[in-house]
Amino acid sequence: MANLAGRSLLTLKDFTADEISYLIDYAIELKAKKRAGKRGTLLSGKNIVLIFEKASTRTRCAFEVAAFDEGAQVTFLTNSQMGKKESMEDTAKVLGRFYDGIEFRGFKQDTVEALAKWSGIPVWNGLTDLYHPTQILADFMTIKEYSKKPFSEMKLVFVGDARNNVANSLMIGAAKLGMNFTAACPEALRPDHALLTEMQKLGAETGAVISCESDPFTAVHGADIIYTDVWVSMGEEDKFEERIAQLKPYQVTMDMLKASGNPDVIFEHCLPAFHDIETEVGREIFSKYGLTEMEVTDEVFRSKHSVVFDEAENRMHTIKAVMAATCCS
Ligand code: CP
Ligand code: NVA
Repeated sequence: MANLAGRSLLTLKDFTADEISYLIDYAIELKAKKRAGKRGTLLSGKNIVLIFEKASTRTRCAFEVAAFDEGAQVTFLTNSQMGKKESMEDTAKVLGRFYDGIEFRGFKQDTVEALAKWSGIPVWNGLTDLYHPTQILADFMTIKEYSKKPFSEMKLVFVGDARNNVANSLMIGAAKLGMNFTAACPEALRPDHALLTEMQKLGAETGAVISCESDPFTAVHGADIIYTDVWVSMGEEDKFEERIAQLKPYQVTMDMLKASGNPDVIFEHCLPAFHDIETEVGREIFSKYGLTEMEVTDEVFRSKHSVVFDEAENRMHTIKAVMAATCCS
């Protein structure tokens, strides 16, 4: 059993393959416990603060329900003095006096790093410009539930904006766990060169081939998992026109799933997804650009290949595992 007490989760880079596997297995155990109707005391007496600079459904609810299930209390913080009238250092020192753990979702990786540096308590990254590590734990847990193959014998293809937070974290997770990873994307949206090189070097040690491919139909050949995310991440809303032009050929369709050659290929998406026009933004995009679907077709989203709601549920079990493993004395 890994001892993660007191550790922060700022990026998956900070965790070994064994520690990541341990958290996934622990989450599977906690899921079974919840299914059996059992609540616990793993976080009894703990106070946790959830800081959100950006919108969230899954991450906020996952942290709250996970905390309540195991006996912790939470504060949801959106409008604080942090960074406006009070430095990150001073804010972190104050929060460290009140709380036992901090979740942060926001614009800059530097902010979550500063919270960890100055608070003296575990800090969990709930999404920044660079990374979304708790998402990937849920994605890999879901893969484990659906496939009998070990991670080291699988290929995951991320199709779309391959330099965003989710793609970066998936690439790190894959490199750590020895899973082949291909970013299927246009040249302009390739992963950051330094991160790609670092993960290719790590992959050479773990047995993971980490690559980029501009033709998505070539990229998905032999895929076990096809993953996509929104074309425009939170904070980049002025980029829709540019991204639609760049990424329309990368929309995940049934033909793309068939091009994997794998009848059991899994489709993953971190959500929220633009697979229809049942949203305000979806309708606005439809009126401006005539698209009824963006990164994935409704057909794929609702198909038997899609495990997106299992991933969403598993956010809660994996986040519970992270908090219980790191926030214990
Ligand atoms: N996947 C994810 O992080 O969802 P939310 O933005 O709803 O938290
Ligand atoms: N890349 C997306 C992920 C949302 C969960 C974003 O940052 O908006």
